[in-house]
Amino acid sequence: MPTTPAFNPPSPSLPGKPTVLPWVPPAPTKETHNFAELHTIDLALMDSEDPAVVNALVEQVKGAIRDDGFLFLENYGVSLEQASGRIEADKARLLFHPDTGRWAGYKHPYGFKFNWYTREWEDDAFIPECLHPFMDEIRAFAEYLTGSVNRRLLTLFSRVLELPDDYLWNHVQSHGSPSGEGYFRHALFRPVGRDTAAKSRGLRMHGHTDFGTTTLLFSVPISCLQIWGHDEQWHYVPYKPGCLVVNIGETLEIVSGGHFKATRHRVFSPPADQAHEERLSLVLFNSSVGDIQMTPARASPLIQREGCIEEQGVYREFKKVMDAGASVPTNKQWREIQIANATDPTDSVRNRLGADQVLIGGKLMNQRDFMGVKVTLPV
Ligand SMILES: [Fe+2]
Repeated sequence: MPTTPAFNPPSPSLPGKPTVLPWVPPAPTKETHNFAELHTIDLALMDSEDPAVVNALVEQVKGAIRDDGFLFLENYGVSLEQASGRIEADKARLLFHPDTGRWAGYKHPYGFKFNWYTREWEDDAFIPECLHPFMDEIRAFAEYLTGSVNRRLLTLFSRVLELPDDYLWNHVQSHGSPSGEGYFRHALFRPVGRDTAAKSRGLRMHGHTDFGTTTLLFSVPISCLQIWGHDEQWHYVPYKPGCLVVNIGETLEIVSGGHFKATRHRVFSPPADQAHEERLSLVLFNSSVGDIQMTPARASPLIQREGCIEEQGVYREFKKVMDAGASVPTNKQWREIQIANATDPTDSVRNRLGADQVLIGGKLMNQRDFMGVKVTLPV
């Protein structure tokens, strides 16, 4: 198989581009307690000419997405230096121009977020002006993540399902802009004030699963992301410089009949030695085609042979609805109703027992119903 081209972005020093200072990463935490251990997948092994190496890679991926639903990805074609350059471009702009009024809709209680959906890719009028000189690089970066990294991942996942290489790319992944129907996010999370920390009890984003196919997140030194482990406890995802943190979305959990796990995760305060640091985050949320209703890929020999796995999550809940003869939501309906009804961790009306929350086995859970599908998630 030919070697996959590495990311080769437009030059950052073209005439007219503002100079961007080098990014100085904050120190990783010294805390070691309560960190998750994740598999690391070397994506460059896909290009090996030795079928045994590629088969071993597919087996390793199979284990990772069944066990954890989260994995580290290395050697995917973007260097740490290339990713760091992108982070600094945003840091400079987002830190120093927060109140231009152009970012209405992107301001977040814990920092700033800017999300590129199809509309933003198509029309610069929807992008902060200070980012215009960098749009060639930002676009090339998102296109590489979607069209190369995500595509190779979906190829591996198709092989795990023993389907043709392009199955998930052609039938499930959305297309049509550098992020398809998903979105690319630049975010800056600031340390929260004492009031907010007390109201949210350290939480910055509730436990949830992502809606789409894969989420690609650059590993950053400030540890805030936590995943819900087999021990039913939250664990921080460790920092692994240069790696992508990949997690499986609900679409792939359902399409795989529960063989892939859409792992529950949340954003929490960092360990104490990072409490005063800002956290920069680059994330690509890859999304499935909006108009389809998610059902298991019955053509998969793996599913035919082993059946579906109903042990957890949204697949099990979708199956209950289908078994009752009712119609499940389309992907678009499913993601839009949840985004429209998302609550903030500081919401003292919804976040209490008897409102959105229940105790299950002594654990506090958010439990809600969307279009007849029950969603139960650890807080
Ligand atoms: Fe998420």
